[in-house]
Amino acid sequence: MAEQQPAITLERVCKSFGPNHVLRDVSLTLPAGKILVMLGPSGTGKSVLLRCLVGLMKPDSGRIFIEGQDITALDERRSADREQLFALRRKFGMLFQDGALFDDMCVGDNVAFPLRQHEKMSEREIADRVAQYLEAVGLKGVQRKMPAELSGGMRKRVAFARAIALRPKIVLCDEPSSGLDPVMSATLDELILELHRKFAITFVVISHDTAEARNIADYIGLLYKGELQEYGPKEQVLRSSRRHINQFFDRSTDGPIKVL
Ligand SMILES: Nc1ncnc2c1ncn2[C@@H]1O[C@H](COP(=O)(O)OP(=O)(O)OP(=O)(O)O)[C@@H](O)[C@H]1O
Ligand SMILES: [Mg+2]
Repeated sequence: MAEQQPAITLERVCKSFGPNHVLRDVSLTLPAGKILVMLGPSGTGKSVLLRCLVGLMKPDSGRIFIEGQDITALDERRSADREQLFALRRKFGMLFQDGALFDDMCVGDNVAFPLRQHEKMSEREIADRVAQYLEAVGLKGVQRKMPAELSGGMRKRVAFARAIALRPKIVLCDEPSSGLDPVMSATLDELILELHRKFAITFVVISHDTAEARNIADYIGLLYKGELQEYGPKEQVLRSSRRHINQFFDRSTDGPIKVL
């Protein structure tokens, strides 16, 4: 049997905004079905990296392959490419950092939104799927509530349910645990692990939380000033003697990472 394509491959990806070099020569390979936790201090390019991965931003140079297909070669403005780009984006579920929900839609409609857009499911099937995923994120029965009636943590979990509703192959989560209490963060971690086991979903989870990295990661990366300082299987990274990763795990101000 042919070896499975990696879920994600980055080759020397660079992205600048004017003089601000946000990503510098980032290269990595993430095998399919693994969980990557990408750590890094604030403002270091983690969200920009995620946006490049789903094709919402184009790197200035370098290439990004999703299951072997070069997403950086596709241009949304070319009609021939558009369909391929949309097909590639369909592989992703994305939990944005601000967890943006549609404020004028109730929770149930928020989670149902991608199902109505992309799937030919009956309203009954949609309602069942929505109920299943809301229960999975610990929010049973909140379908009729409006986003404004929920706490920040609850909104985040609704956004997570929406991100996974289409059962995508790859899920990108931008700081899923920020704003959640420790018990709810742990619940979300459990949910990521459960989905990973059940549906073999590949996850890229952006986090500041080293406990989260220890708990759920197969791979750990550390991004600092746009450079990938450390990357590899968890056990290897946790054994690393590099000062960046040790400083991060030790929560120390003493080391190469400086507050920006
Ligand atoms: N669309 C944009 N235009 C110009 N600059 C941008 C844009 N998006 C991000 N940046 C800049 O890129 C840098 C990295 O931003 P990014 O949002 O990726 O940081 P981050 O690592 O996600 O930080 P945090 O942990 O606080 O979310 C910042 O200096 C930011 O100002
Ligand atoms: Mg960010």
